[in-house]
Amino acid sequence: MSQHLTVVDHPLVQHKLSIMRDKETSTKSFRQLLREISQLLAYEITRELPMTTKRIETPLEPMDAPVLDGKKLALISILRAGNGLLDGVLELVPAARVGFIGLYRDERTLQPIQYYFKVPEDLSDRLVIAVDPMLATGNSSAAAVDLLKEAGATNIRFLCLLAAPEGIQRMKEAHPDVPIVTAAVDKHLNDHGYIVPGLGDAGDRMFGTK
Ligand code: URA
Repeated sequence: MSQHLTVVDHPLVQHKLSIMRDKETSTKSFRQLLREISQLLAYEITRELPMTTKRIETPLEPMDAPVLDGKKLALISILRAGNGLLDGVLELVPAARVGFIGLYRDERTLQPIQYYFKVPEDLSDRLVIAVDPMLATGNSSAAAVDLLKEAGATNIRFLCLLAAPEGIQRMKEAHPDVPIVTAAVDKHLNDHGYIVPGLGDAGDRMFGTK
């Protein structure tokens, strides 16, 4: 992808996102909508995947049919909210390899603390898509990308649902080579590191916790 930031302003994405933002939306609907939006975002983030052709025969004649080239994608969920995006993306690219990075945010310093890391081998040969619904301070996203690069990844994209300008800036400084795809860029972060107007805590809203 050539652009550092892509905002997917498709009407279906925006409509579903507005329902997700509404505090009256139930956990069940929130989860379902996230799954639907993540498929639409996945469509965008995979738009420029390299292609090759494969010789096949239709019932009428042989043809060189376009197929994806190269190794399977690696999808990396940044726990725990990343799992909500992961499910939908996996429905679109079911053969993808999957990894998980566990980072929690120290509520006082807002700095990420790692507690889990398990990713597919051969990251260097794969397009790696890191998924996390909320790009807030960008601290955990930048840390996750650091870890992926240490593990060998060279071709990384970042998929989120909502981004704050602060998080985009942080990622741009730390990882200018990592394109970001998001459904919206909100106004700012509040003092607790929440995206405003945002949708609250994405993990709590998708899992029904508080
Ligand atoms: N994480 C969330 O879940 N929500 C925010 O607004 C910021 C970080």
